[in-house]
Amino acid sequence: MTKPMTVLLTGGTGFLGEYLLEELLSRGHRVWAMYRNESRMLDTVRFLGRLGLPRSADSLNWFKGEALDADEKWEEWCRQYPGLENVDTLLHSAASTRLHMDEFGEPRKTNLGSAKTLYNLTRRKPMQCHLISTAYVCGLVQGRLVKEENHPRGDFVNVYEESKWEAEQLWMGNGTLLRPAIIVGHSETARCTSFSGWYILVQAAHLLDRLMRDVPEEQRLNLNINVPAYPDATANIITVDYVAGAAVRIIERPENHNGIFHLTHPNPPTHQWTLDWITRRFRIGGLNFAGAGAPFTQPRNTIERMVWRQMQTILFHFSNNPIFDRTNVDKALPDLEVPPISEDLADRLVDYAIEWDWGQS
Ligand SMILES: NC(=O)c1ccc[n+]([C@@H]2O[C@H](COP(=O)([O-])OP(=O)(O)OC[C@H]3O[C@@H](n4cnc5c(N)ncnc54)[C@H](OP(=O)(O)O)[C@@H]3O)[C@@H](O)[C@H]2O)c1
Repeated sequence: MTKPMTVLLTGGTGFLGEYLLEELLSRGHRVWAMYRNESRMLDTVRFLGRLGLPRSADSLNWFKGEALDADEKWEEWCRQYPGLENVDTLLHSAASTRLHMDEFGEPRKTNLGSAKTLYNLTRRKPMQCHLISTAYVCGLVQGRLVKEENHPRGDFVNVYEESKWEAEQLWMGNGTLLRPAIIVGHSETARCTSFSGWYILVQAAHLLDRLMRDVPEEQRLNLNINVPAYPDATANIITVDYVAGAAVRIIERPENHNGIFHLTHPNPPTHQWTLDWITRRFRIGGLNFAGAGAPFTQPRNTIERMVWRQMQTILFHFSNNPIFDRTNVDKALPDLEVPPISEDLADRLVDYAIEWDWGQS
C-alpha cells in the first residue's frame, strides 16, 4: 500500500472527475474537491452515495472555488475551509472541453488560465502536481507512432487541443502529464455524463436513422457519401473507468511523478469496424472512405444538411490517425486490464446515450 494522499481535485463534478473521486476514495485517499455549482456537486454526492464507498466522515471535503482564482484566493479559501491547507497533491482535471473558441475566449481561457494560476500557487504551496491533458496534444498525425514525450507545437485539429498543449508546456518536468484518448462511458454500466467526441459521430448516425425512418431500406443502405478518412485508421476511444483507475494508480507511485503517460487504448477500433457496426446498428450504409483530406460529400438534401451540422465539430478527427505508444503506462501498470471495445460495449454505450437523450435530459 502506498502512502495515502491528500488530494486537491479540480473538475470533480465532471464526467471523468466523478470517477477520479470514486477511485481516490475507494483506494483510501483523502480529497478536497473544488466545485462551482451546488447542484452539480449534489449530483456527484448522490452518484458517490449510490456506490456505497467505504469512507470515513472526513475523507471527502468540498470547497467552492473557481480554478482561475486559485493563486489569488488560496489563503482566503484556507481560512474558510480549515484543513484545506493540508493538501499534498494536486490532480487538475477541470477544463473547458469546447472544441472551438467562443466569445469569452474559451476553451483557452480556462485551460491555459487554470494551468498558469495553479502553477503559480504550487510555487508557494508545494504539492505533487498531476495534470489531466489529452493524447491529442500531438496535433494532426498520419499513422505515425506518437511517443509519451513532449511534442513540438503541431498542426492542431482544434483550439481545445492547442490549449491543452500550451498548458502542458507550463507543467513539463514539474508535473505528471496524464493523456487520455477519447473518453467514453463506463465499461460495465455504460454511464456517461458528457456526450462529446465519439458520441457526436454516433449521435449523427442516430439522427440520420430517425430522419430516414420512412426511407426504403435499399436507399438507406446506399447513401453514397464520402468520408475523409482511411478505413484502417483508428479512433482511440477508452472507457472512463480505465482512465480514472490508471490515473490514480499512476500518481500514487513516486517513481511515476513528472512523467508522461498515454491513457489510450492499445487496440482501438478502426474506422471500418466502426462503420460496419454503425451500419448494423442504425441500418444506414453506403459511406465510403475517400482518404484523409478528401472532400466530404456536400449535403444534397435537408436530411444530410442536418446531419452534417451535427458532425461539423469533429470532422477533422476522422483524418487524424496517431498511433499512441504506451511504453510508460505499460511499465507503470502491467496488470491493469484495458476493457476491450467490443460491439456489445458500443451498443450499450449508445443505449445509455439514447436513454439520456445524448445529455439533453
Ligand atoms: N472527455 C474526453 O473525451 C476527454 C479526453 C481527453 C482528455 N480529457 C480531459 O479530461 C478532463 C476532464 O474532462 P471531462 O470530460 O470530465 O469534462 P467535463 O465533464 O466537461 O468536466 C469538466 C469539469 O471541469 C470543471 N471546470 C471547468 N471550468 C472550471 C473552472 N474555471 N474552475 C473550476 N472548475 C471548472 C467543471 O465544473 P462544473 O461542473 O462546475 O461545470 C467540471 O467539473 C479535462 O481536463 C479534459 O480536457 C477529456
